[in-house]
Amino acid sequence: MQERLQKLIASAGLGSRRQAEEWIAAGLVSINDRVATLGEKADPHKDRILVKGRPLPRAEEKVYLLLHKPAGYVTTLSDPEGRPIVTDLLKNCAARVFPVGRLDVATEGLLLLTNDGVLAQRLAHPRHKVEKTYLVKVRGLLSDEARRQLEKGVKLEDGLTLPALVEKVRTTAGNTWFELVLREGRNRQVRRMCEALGYPVVRLKRLRVGFLELGGLGVGQYRCLTRREISRLGEL
Ligand code: URA
Repeated sequence: MQERLQKLIASAGLGSRRQAEEWIAAGLVSINDRVATLGEKADPHKDRILVKGRPLPRAEEKVYLLLHKPAGYVTTLSDPEGRPIVTDLLKNCAARVFPVGRLDVATEGLLLLTNDGVLAQRLAHPRHKVEKTYLVKVRGLLSDEARRQLEKGVKLEDGLTLPALVEKVRTTAGNTWFELVLREGRNRQVRRMCEALGYPVVRLKRLRVGFLELGGLGVGQYRCLTRREISRLGEL
C-alpha cells in the first residue's frame, strides 16, 4: 500500500514527520534511485526507499545491537557539554536506537542498544536482577577484608549492596585488577562500592550482561544480536 513518504520514515522510527519532510525537501530521500519530492507516496514493500543513502527499515522491525563502548562517550542521546554520544558510533545503522540502561562516561564495555522500548524498560528496571560482570582496576592492593566486604555487601547511601562475586584478582604496579559480578545495577555502583572501601576505580569495563559477552568485539565496534540471542533476551 502506498503511503506518504514522511509517514513511512517516521513510522520506521528514523525521526519525526517534520524531520522527514525536511530530509525530503533537502533531497536526502530517494525512491527507486530517483530523488523524492515532498508530497510523494511510496510502497515500502515494492519500492526501494533510501534515507540519507540507507534503506528504510521496516516499520515494525526491531533492532538489537551490542556495542563496545569506549571511555569518553556518554550514554544519553544528547549532551549539553558536547561530549561524543554512543550513537555517534553507529555509522551504518539507520534505525533510531537508544541505550539499555547507562554506563558512566568513563566506563567502557558492553552496552546494549535497541529501538524496542518495552524490552529496554524491562531490562533497565532495578527489579530485574540481570547478572553483570565488570573488569575493575582500583588503585592500591585490595585487602582480603575489602574483598570479603565487596562479596558480602557494601553499605552505600542507598542501602547495602547485594552479595557479589570477586574473581580473577591480580595486582600490577600498585593497582589491583579483578572481575566483579553484580546482580543489581544501581547508579555508579561499582565505583561507589570500591570508593566506600578506600579503593578509587581507575578503570572500569563491563564484560558481560546475562548471557551476552563482549568477546573479541573491538573498542567502538558494534554488532547485531543473532536471532538466537534475540529470542534469549526474554530470559534475562
Ligand atoms: N558501575 C559503575 O560504577 N559505573 C558504570 O558505568 C557501571 C557500573
